[in-house]
Amino acid sequence: MEEDLNASTAHDESSREESAEVLTRRAFLNKLSVGLSVLAAALVGLPVLGFLFAPLLRKAPVVWRAVGPVEQFRVGETVEVTFQDASPLPWAGVSAMTAAWLRRESEQKFTAFSVNCTHLGCPVNWVPGGTLFMCPCHGGVYYKDGTVAAGPPPKPLPTYNVRLRNGQVEVEASGIPIT
Ligand code: FES
Repeated sequence: MEEDLNASTAHDESSREESAEVLTRRAFLNKLSVGLSVLAAALVGLPVLGFLFAPLLRKAPVVWRAVGPVEQFRVGETVEVTFQDASPLPWAGVSAMTAAWLRRESEQKFTAFSVNCTHLGCPVNWVPGGTLFMCPCHGGVYYKDGTVAAGPPPKPLPTYNVRLRNGQVEVEASGIPIT
């Protein structure tokens, strides 16, 4: 009888040890599976996140576009010029073209205003008689220096940097904030 009892106790202990070992193995496998899942998610997710957020970290390229020979523009006149944007996509076609209102202030000084209204981005028109920029969408009006005269535009018209190179007027095609 006592022998039976001892055998049963030994069996209990051995099965407890076995179940503890199984638990340890299960816990280990669980941790391994979680670790491998995290690793797989990181391997797939990091390149995707990099692709999504890289444009936010990339600096906009500085590109100068020639818009015409200096002698083509008369002092005091404001004319529309068109040029390709700073980083056109290969399939963009004419949608890669943008425009500015270019004024020759003096022999050497030019000012280029963005054509896009600072309210909702409609293209503004130059009205030479009134020396004003008028927005056809919601009645925004700007003075000749681009400051707001009337209507909903919250800010003056942005200006592009302009330089003269090799007899050409060049406009810096980057740096205008999206309105
Ligand atoms: Fe120019 Fe609204 S978009 S006034």
